[in-house]
Amino acid sequence: MSLPIAKIRQAFPILRRLIDGHPLAYLDNAATTQKPDGVLDAMNAYYRTQNANAHRGMHPLAEEATDAYEGARGVVQKFLHACHSEEIIFTKSCTEAINLAAKSWGRTNLHPGDRVILTILEHHSNIIPWIQLKEERGIELQWVDIDDDGNLRFDRLERFLHEGNAKLVAITGQSNVLGMQPPLQEIIGRSHAAGARVLVDAAQLVAHHPIDVQKLDCDFLAFSGHKLYGPTGIGVLYGKREFLEHMPPMLGGGGMVQNVTEESFIPLDPPARFEAGTPPIAEAVGLAAAIDWLSQFSWEDIIHHEQQLLVHAGVVLSSIPNLTILGRFPLQPTPYNLPPRTGCLSFTLDNLHPHDLTEILGREGICLRAGHHCAEPLHRRLGFAASTRLSIALYNTPEEINRLPAAIERAREILTGKTADSARAHGRVANYKLQTTH
Ligand SMILES: Cc1ncc(COP(=O)(O)O)c(C=O)c1O
Repeated sequence: MSLPIAKIRQAFPILRRLIDGHPLAYLDNAATTQKPDGVLDAMNAYYRTQNANAHRGMHPLAEEATDAYEGARGVVQKFLHACHSEEIIFTKSCTEAINLAAKSWGRTNLHPGDRVILTILEHHSNIIPWIQLKEERGIELQWVDIDDDGNLRFDRLERFLHEGNAKLVAITGQSNVLGMQPPLQEIIGRSHAAGARVLVDAAQLVAHHPIDVQKLDCDFLAFSGHKLYGPTGIGVLYGKREFLEHMPPMLGGGGMVQNVTEESFIPLDPPARFEAGTPPIAEAVGLAAAIDWLSQFSWEDIIHHEQQLLVHAGVVLSSIPNLTILGRFPLQPTPYNLPPRTGCLSFTLDNLHPHDLTEILGREGICLRAGHHCAEPLHRRLGFAASTRLSIALYNTPEEINRLPAAIERAREILTGKTADSARAHGRVANYKLQTTH
């Protein structure tokens, strides 16, 4: 069945916005997705009718807030097909979730000489916590490369796993630059056979593909609510109970202890042990509403629609002169039977800086992302300092993508000085650059 895209779009009030009279074409969904009415309403209703602190009071509002928060945990558990709700830890973000795994599990389980295997596809959030651990614990990092088409070098991973001392494979479920999905099931199976645990960074995967942590058998999995049509300020670390039970808390504070003396404390069991301080209650409610909203559609339909959109984007962009899509953009299935890329694709255009290009496209309401997308090692590997990224969500349409060739041509003309107003345009671009951090 095909998705009712027009109806879906109506659920997102922001999509009705005009930018300088132009309709919005929001194609920056890998950075953050827009939020449907269901999420906005659920958070509004929570604050209007139930707001209190969770796990900290006996009055009716406190109980309702606690129920709302724990209810959200149950929704996430079901969404990930986790065995136990205690395996779902709420954090501030995917970044904080990965840091929690590194700083709690990593600090207690990794010793000098132990190896953590990463891939060159990783986002900085799944790189820096491990570099910090390397500096702190003397562990070694090994990097799995990609081939020139952007596919993971499985042979390298195998070699690292067989060299011994591999304790963890920390891998993205979907690249936020190339959109390729490593074959997680196979990687997890081989890593376990070599005695390594596996952490999956599902920040990008989560909105585009169903996740079953029991079937995958991953040991940890992290994601952010805001890339899943939910609010900012909430993320999730899934961890197998057998590991969480033996991990120390990363933060200390209220709500995570059984008792405290002047000298010591005894932490609560997971998940409370890892959720010190007032938790993100309204955000958890919003995340649960986002999952409920998304769950009205079948994954088959979501994947089909998004696949068609991305292939369409690949074809449309490929028709633009001097535009290079990073990694071979496969219109056919890739090696290892990988599906074609999902969620996003990135490109370069002439020698134009992506920041300049996206600023000009933005004037017409077309929102793309420019830069290294927090994946500097990957960009270096691909031979570019920066790229422009187009990333899609459920509500995007081919018509939005069809606006790109003409808009890109107009931007190119402005930036290469071929239009009367290019001097003025350059002035604006120069100002913009000064305000932009790379
Ligand atoms: C693959 C990947 N991992 C991790 C993150 C970090 O997510 P957040 O900034 O929500 O913590 C992102 C964000 O873009 C990402 O794309």
